[in-house]
Amino acid sequence: MAAYEYETHDYDVVVVGAGGAGLRATLGMAEQGLRTACVTKVFPTRSHTVAAQGGIAASLSNMGPDNWQWHMYDTVKGSDWLGDTDAMEYLAREAPKAVYELEHYGVPFSRTEEGKIYQRPFGGHTTEFGEGPPVQRTCAAADRTGHAILHTLYGQSLKNNAEFYIEYFAIDLLMEDGVCKGVLCWKLDDGTMHVFNAKTVVLATGGYGRAYFSATSAHTCTGDGGGMVARAGLPLQDMEFVQFHPTGIYGSGCLITEGARGEGGYLTNSEGERFMERYAPTYKDLAPRDYVSRSMTMEIREGRGVGKEGDHIHLNLSHLPAEALAERLPGISESAKIFAGVDVTKEPIPVLPTVHYNMGGIPTNYWGEVLNPTADDPNAVVPGLMAVGEAGCASVHGANRLGSNSLIDLVVFGRAAAIRAGKVVDRDGAVPTAPKAEIDKAFDRFDGLRHAKGNIATAELRLEMQKTMQRDAAVFRTAKTMAEGVEAMTAIAGKMDDLKVTDRSLVWNSDLMETLELTNLMPNALATIVGAEARKESRGAHAHEDYTDRDDENWRVHTISRVEGNSVDLTYRPVVVDPLSTEAEGGISLAKIAPKARTF
Ligand code: FUM
Repeated sequence: MAAYEYETHDYDVVVVGAGGAGLRATLGMAEQGLRTACVTKVFPTRSHTVAAQGGIAASLSNMGPDNWQWHMYDTVKGSDWLGDTDAMEYLAREAPKAVYELEHYGVPFSRTEEGKIYQRPFGGHTTEFGEGPPVQRTCAAADRTGHAILHTLYGQSLKNNAEFYIEYFAIDLLMEDGVCKGVLCWKLDDGTMHVFNAKTVVLATGGYGRAYFSATSAHTCTGDGGGMVARAGLPLQDMEFVQFHPTGIYGSGCLITEGARGEGGYLTNSEGERFMERYAPTYKDLAPRDYVSRSMTMEIREGRGVGKEGDHIHLNLSHLPAEALAERLPGISESAKIFAGVDVTKEPIPVLPTVHYNMGGIPTNYWGEVLNPTADDPNAVVPGLMAVGEAGCASVHGANRLGSNSLIDLVVFGRAAAIRAGKVVDRDGAVPTAPKAEIDKAFDRFDGLRHAKGNIATAELRLEMQKTMQRDAAVFRTAKTMAEGVEAMTAIAGKMDDLKVTDRSLVWNSDLMETLELTNLMPNALATIVGAEARKESRGAHAHEDYTDRDDENWRVHTISRVEGNSVDLTYRPVVVDPLSTEAEGGISLAKIAPKARTF
């Protein structure tokens, strides 16, 4: 058994991760007087939310008529009817409150002439239950909205006495009899070990975009929460649904916000044609992302891609006034210059659909409580454990997320988790003690990796995984490519026992940290490809070329995957169909949100 000394910390709540969801949860917990720690592997304001550009959806009606029912309808349709209806209603109803709270906390939103929060159009956000024109629903701070939110939430959390443990890497959850009692962490800058005992642990660890070769996600997006949950014997949900953002910069994958099309930008092919008019005659470039990414891929496949190799598409902004670009889109103007050498006032940006978001994650209810569904109880809650943000799956995005519904998901569900914790955490009760046997088990795993003497470097195996996922779990998928992907990924995951770590130190050991991250990426990637291969339909971001239709009779279900080593066990859980409120109570009727063909 590996012997490591450790320091112990006791809290009511420990939040793991300091992106938008983690900070909103931390702030909400601390505001209620819960003793709250936020443990994070990067400095809070460097979390991946800082890269969120275009904005945060909420039906404020600042730029024209809007209401939460229209927002909810768009989210239901955007999800291709795989989202949980109660959670989608909660999101749309609470969104305006959550955004006004952000404003009052100090987020420097862009403003209209009258001083209201500025809102721009984003894909799939419409009026009149999808019958009317696009709506301006996405509240923006220029094209640096995530940056503005993150800085504000960090400042507010400090003001409310939340305690931050920065550059601490969470190794494993500490569970006992199905209850979460804490988390074991490694302090990266001095090599010390820390056991955090807690009444509630909140996983806010973000997505796992780095399971792919080309992603808009930061290199830190390694699915750490999903990895810890899988090792704790808990499931992941709907992992096959991976969003490709239409406009990653060709070559670097760096994000160009959908807000660029919201402000009037448009896509063209090698013939200079605005091809989205053919695929989505009503909403054109403002169709949802799965639609636009597929249309771009089809243009390229049919020989109408741009560039020497005809392998990408152009995003045009040069027709927009230079002052508008400078005021509304300064960040992406700079990114286009740095990463593509393009002056957006003069030339189009070369773009390509790029992995951007994971709709799937750790299953939760709309309070953020983690679920461990069983045949008898599909909504069984794991005591002491919550998950929010991209790490979680509430599920509001179903098979496809609408742009700007991510930032609102972070703050609405970070806030919801805090509201719930305020009710269920026993403030006067003793903080549980994480079991010694679990701590020892986690140290044994850590020590095994630290001293790994196999034949494959972490970076080498990671690259194999990334290339495989990019090739076999892509925008379009076939039975053949996915079967090949399952075989390849099973073999790749099987090589985890043959890893080689060369640095054995405990201080700033990036070799070991990246190895731990790979142990997290791997179960996420495996669940993604296995879940995709099993789903015999096309829905949202899962475009199966051998089953091109959505099949509600057989497949309107959540995929539940349990990963152990290199094998994945799949079961299914019903989608929540009932909304929170009836039409008589001001909600949407079931008839209005009944599944139908999804056209734009
Ligand atoms: O395009 C964007 O600005 C990204 C927003 C989002 O993913 O919600």
